[in-house]
Amino acid sequence: MKDVNILAIETSCDETSIAIIRNGVECVSLTVLTQMDTHAMYGGVVPEIASRMHAENITMVLEETLNKSKMKMSDIDAIAVTYSPGLLGSLLVGVEFAKTLALVYDKPLIAVNHLAGHIYANNLEKKMEFPLLALVVSGGHTDLILMKDDYKFEHIGGTLDDAVGECYDKVARVLGLKYPGGPNVDRMASLGKHTYELPIPMNDDSFNMSFSGLKSSIINLVHNEAQRGHEIRKEDLACSFQEVAVDQLIRKSELAIKKYKVKNMIVAGGVSANKYLREKVKELTDKYNINLSIPRILYCTDNAAMIGAAAYPLYMRGEFADMDLNATSRDELY
Ligand code: KG4
Ligand code: ZN
Repeated sequence: MKDVNILAIETSCDETSIAIIRNGVECVSLTVLTQMDTHAMYGGVVPEIASRMHAENITMVLEETLNKSKMKMSDIDAIAVTYSPGLLGSLLVGVEFAKTLALVYDKPLIAVNHLAGHIYANNLEKKMEFPLLALVVSGGHTDLILMKDDYKFEHIGGTLDDAVGECYDKVARVLGLKYPGGPNVDRMASLGKHTYELPIPMNDDSFNMSFSGLKSSIINLVHNEAQRGHEIRKEDLACSFQEVAVDQLIRKSELAIKKYKVKNMIVAGGVSANKYLREKVKELTDKYNINLSIPRILYCTDNAAMIGAAAYPLYMRGEFADMDLNATSRDELY
């Protein structure tokens, strides 16, 4: 069969990224231009700045991606783009750019959900085998998804309030760590011990999770200690928080493994870059003799390679988008 080369575009947050993905599994070329340093000055992503920077940089990112691949637009079979969820202004830059390329070069257009992208990043490592349990952990989502086939997402549980990534970012802020918070808390936690007593969320048999109580208890603890003039042992607090947060993800994943008797598990989303979570999921899947797949760090955080991987099943089914494709900030996948 002839190879399928998809040019994929991701601009949903603060990374301008373009990739060429072959047959949904091979990353031929990937460029990720992060705006992290700019947003770090403001303590978080500033949407207006993000969309401007995407607009300024996207043609350069395309040029670099094509140059690295030694391919031309005529070698490309389709254009894929993240249309949701994300920052509207940022998504719009990618969507309009993708539509323009599709129109000018007469290629089909494929609309990809960002979360499907995080899940399909796993195909770049090892083709996913169904049925599987997906633990989706990002800045906006914390969900347990059962997948019986390509693009069949069954939501079996998840957070009732904050996402785990959001909680990491908030804890980073109260610990005085710079944006992006998650990786900094991860690093700091590895230097500490679990010495602070924190509430254990959702200690029950449901697939529900919660992170807002844990977040509030850390904010309160830091304020109370400051009022008493006590020093916070930041490394220990980061470690205590991380162990409680990850323990909840592992406990709920274990319940799902037992109930659905899955033989495959994947982890997806930005928080899957977390070192401690990666260790704990490995222990869990070893315990139940389950195949585990977690993308390498480059494919965990936002990137266009995952969008190309997620576009491939849609290409094979001929599910193409029209030229009136619009970006939306929230479109649920499951
Ligand atoms: O998936 P993602 O890149 O963006 C969304 O689609 O939300 O996830 C971003 C989230 C942020 O909250 C970030 O702090 C978190 O992933 N994150 C981490 C790590 N790397 C990124 N959280 C914990 N440990 C990490 N190493
Ligand atoms: Zn993401």
